[in-house]
Amino acid sequence: MSCDFVYWFIHILVQPLSLSLSLSLSGQLVVASLLSRGIQSRLLLRDPSKAVSLFGQQNDHTFQVWKGDTRNPNDIDQAMFEGVTHVICCTGTTAFPSRRWDGDNTPEKVDWEGIRNLVNMMPRSVKRLILVSSVGVTKYNELPWSIMNLFGVLKYKKMGEDFVCNSGIPYTIIRPGRLTDGPYTSYDLNTLLKATAGERRAVILDQGDNLVGEVSRLVVAEACIQAMDIEFTEGQIYEINSVKGEGPGCDPVKWRDLFKAAQANKPSCTSSLF
Ligand SMILES: NC(=O)c1ccc[n+]([C@@H]2O[C@H](COP(=O)([O-])OP(=O)(O)OC[C@H]3O[C@@H](n4cnc5c(N)ncnc54)[C@H](OP(=O)(O)O)[C@@H]3O)[C@@H](O)[C@H]2O)c1
Repeated sequence: MSCDFVYWFIHILVQPLSLSLSLSLSGQLVVASLLSRGIQSRLLLRDPSKAVSLFGQQNDHTFQVWKGDTRNPNDIDQAMFEGVTHVICCTGTTAFPSRRWDGDNTPEKVDWEGIRNLVNMMPRSVKRLILVSSVGVTKYNELPWSIMNLFGVLKYKKMGEDFVCNSGIPYTIIRPGRLTDGPYTSYDLNTLLKATAGERRAVILDQGDNLVGEVSRLVVAEACIQAMDIEFTEGQIYEINSVKGEGPGCDPVKWRDLFKAAQANKPSCTSSLF
C-alpha cells in the first residue's frame, strides 16, 4: 500500500480536521505530514508569522493558523475547535533556565498550566487528544531523572498527563526519549517533507516508563499521526525510541502492530500527582 493512499484514506474517512499546538521542531514535522496528507489542519501558535515563513501561503480551507499562548485561557478560543476531531499537542520549553523561559514561560506554566488550560477549553466532542510528553515523568525523584527534573519539568509534565487522563477526553500520550533530528526551523515545507530519520528509523514502543534512549522527531511526528486512527491506542500511554534499522515508515498496518505489541495490559494512569 503506498503512502499516498494511506494519506487519502485518513483524510476522507477518519480525519475531518485536526488542531496542532505549537511549531515545536516535532510540531513542524506533524504539520508538514498533515499538510502532505491533505488533512485539514489548524495550528495554535504564539507567533503566527512563523507558520507563514515555514509553510508558505497555504489554502485557507486546508490550513488555518490561530494566535494564542496556552498559558492564557482567553487565547484558547472555543471557535478554534469548531469541527476539530483530533488535537495534537507538542508544546514544551527547556528543562533548564534559558531565554525560552523569558516572560515566565517555564515548565510549570507550559507543561502544567498550559495543558490544563487547553484541556479545560476543549469541547467534549474532540475524539482524541494526542499529547507529547516525555520518558521519565513517573520517576522524576530518581536518578538520573531527578537531574533533568531540577526545575520541575518532569513533575509538571506528569501533572499535565494526569490532568489529561482524568479529563474524560479520549487521549493518547506519547512519551519520547531524547529527541534527535532537527532543527528544521529555517527550512520550508518541501525540505521538511524530504527530511529523513537517517538510519534511525526502527521504532521501539513500550509502556510502563522503562525506556531510556533517543528518538527521531520524524518518528515521533508519525507516531502521533498514526495513533489518531488506531482505536486501541485510546486511553494509552506509550514511550518511544528509535534505533538504526528499517522502520514502519507511514504504513498503518506496521504501526498498528507496533502499538499492539507495546500494550502489555499495564494501567495507563498510575500514581496521579493530585
Ligand atoms: N528535546 C528533547 O530531547 C525532549 C525529550 C523528551 C520530550 N520532549 C518534549 O517533546 C515535545 C516536543 O519537543 P521539541 O523539542 O520538538 O519542541 P520545541 O522545539 O522545544 O518547541 C516547543 C514549542 O512549544 C511552543 N510553546 C512554548 N510555550 C508555549 C506557550 N506558552 N503557548 C503556546 N506554545 C508554546 C513553542 O512555541 P514558541 O516558538 O512560541 O516558543 C515551540 O513551538 C515537548 O513537549 C518537549 O518537552 C523533548
